[in-house]
Amino acid sequence: MFGKFITFEGGEGCGKSTQVSLLMQFLRTKGIKALPTREPGGSPGAELIRELHVTGAPNRWDALTETLLLFAARRDHLVRTVRPALQAGTWVICDRYVDSTIAYQGYGRGVELSVIDSLHVMVAGDLRPDLTFVLDIDPEVGLKRTMKRAHGMEDRFERMDINFHRKLRKGYLETAKQNPARYIISDAYRPIDDVAGAIQFQLNEKIG
Ligand code: TYD
Repeated sequence: MFGKFITFEGGEGCGKSTQVSLLMQFLRTKGIKALPTREPGGSPGAELIRELHVTGAPNRWDALTETLLLFAARRDHLVRTVRPALQAGTWVICDRYVDSTIAYQGYGRGVELSVIDSLHVMVAGDLRPDLTFVLDIDPEVGLKRTMKRAHGMEDRFERMDINFHRKLRKGYLETAKQNPARYIISDAYRPIDDVAGAIQFQLNEKIG
């Protein structure tokens, strides 16, 4: 029995990491074995690539180079971490996945969505998330939230201008609306526990 592959998506400050932790606790109470992971990163090689991606000047990489770096990291993460876990029956709860590339590099930085799609097929084959939660928040609110937290040097994208962040939101919402069976858009402006409760409800509805 394959484990379920669940991803969390959203712009800066939408509260993904908190919701990943809360979902892990919920799955534990249900006796489901699950592995939390993240992109870019989630395997030793991909964490090295992450460092190149999240630090430095906003214009450090041209958009296609950045996309290729992300897919190199994704390949390593899938081969070393995600697939082995799913094959062992463990659920994988991933903080960001390919929808981040569609939003940030596609809608945000102008890489053709067909290029992203082809790279994804090359790197992931037919592996797709079973369910994707898009935590939707006004980017102005999200960015204010991120300013309150300590994130060391990992602020390359938070330093992009507000229009960039508005494009991301549009990207997530458009992508999600195209495939309502797989995506759940969740209003992330609500209190943390309300968002968590809605996520647990949807998970029971969709996966059981
Ligand atoms: P993350 O650690 O989730 O940052 P945060 O918790 O601050 O949202 O992701 C790191 C950054 O990498 C984030 O700014 C989004 C960006 N990113 C992309 O641009 N493309 C991608 O495909 C992924 C996975 C992340």
